[in-house]
Amino acid sequence: MNLYHKYGGMSFWNEVLNNFYSKALQSEKINQFLTPENFPHIQAMLISQLEMSLGAQNRYSMEGLMETHMHLEITSSQYNEWISLYKEALIENYVLYEDIEKIIRVLQAPKKFIVSKNY
Ligand code: HEM
Repeated sequence: MNLYHKYGGMSFWNEVLNNFYSKALQSEKINQFLTPENFPHIQAMLISQLEMSLGAQNRYSMEGLMETHMHLEITSSQYNEWISLYKEALIENYVLYEDIEKIIRVLQAPKKFIVSKNY
């Protein structure tokens, strides 16, 4: 059974995304990216991250991700913050440790294409 169904499908993963999003809104390190104007993009991004992390074929190429994020000048520490809040949301929703490891590994993979500042 894949991770999506293992935890009960969309309603469960929606909870995880909502939990992550409210943490991200409170984070001074990354909440500057979460403006009301780009909310539709953020929603699309969260769905694409979820698909990736649950093992679906990624619809976006790494080059595409690089182009989308380049102008944002995301730092390595902002990326790490993003990942660490995502991990907290998974823990708080009782995702098993071994599944969290898998998900985080997948979300770490595009880091070098998304980050443009090495600090
Ligand atoms: C696994 C990591 C990530 C993936 C797969 C990803 C994917 C995406 C995708 C596919 C879009 C375009 C959404 C659309 O179609 O409208 C997008 C947009 C965006 N992403 Fe990410 N992203 C990642 C990490 C991050 C991080 C760490 C940040 C900030 C700290 C970030 C900030 C943004 C912002 C602000 C937009 C909107 C861009 C704009 O309005 O021009 N992303 N992302």
